[in-house]
Amino acid sequence: MTPSVRFTLLIGVGVVLLWSVVVWLSPQLQVTAGLRELVRFGHLAALVLGFGAALTVEWFGLLWLLGRRPLSAVTQVAQGAHLPIWLGLAGLTASGMLLSPAQPTVAGTIKLGAVLLVALNGVYAARLQQQLAGAGATPSRPLLVRAAMAGGVSQLGWWSAVVIGFLAARA
Ligand code: HEM
Repeated sequence: MTPSVRFTLLIGVGVVLLWSVVVWLSPQLQVTAGLRELVRFGHLAALVLGFGAALTVEWFGLLWLLGRRPLSAVTQVAQGAHLPIWLGLAGLTASGMLLSPAQPTVAGTIKLGAVLLVALNGVYAARLQQQLAGAGATPSRPLLVRAAMAGGVSQLGWWSAVVIGFLAARA
């Protein structure tokens, strides 16, 4: 196992541990009705930051597929978008913990699964991105397929969390 694979696995284990703490702590944290509105605003602001940045990367990927941008533009945008994506996800998690009901729901649990998927896929995507950046103008087809799949999994996770959150807020 190379040091970089070991590092990625270590970060992945850290993400699962953090996620377990979130699952355990969320039902125990409750806020007053007034504060709840403020936290809800924070949840949506973090959504704009994180999901907006993730969508920008996907958009550049699409432009590259259409031959409108070089691959180097996609990897550059992806590198720059890392910080806002992770900050957004952290903000969503911190605010989401305060919004969570005392009794966990099935939909809420599925949503937490989608959030774990987004986070673990993000750790994997960061590694793929390094490989793509090092592959020059003609990366191998398997590497491109893995990058496209990571993009698809990211969208699946984000959209699932958005739809479940939207429905939960109206229940
Ligand atoms: C990828 C991460 C996430 C996304 C995209 C997301 C998205 C959303 C959206 C769009 C809403 C609807 C807000 C509204 O219409 O007012 C929402 C609400 C909610 N989210 Fe999230 N969320 C994420 C992470 C989390 C996490 C990690 C938790 C829990 C730890 C959480 C708990 C909640 C709860 C409980 C609500 C309902 C709030 C209410 O009743 O007003 N979310 N989320």
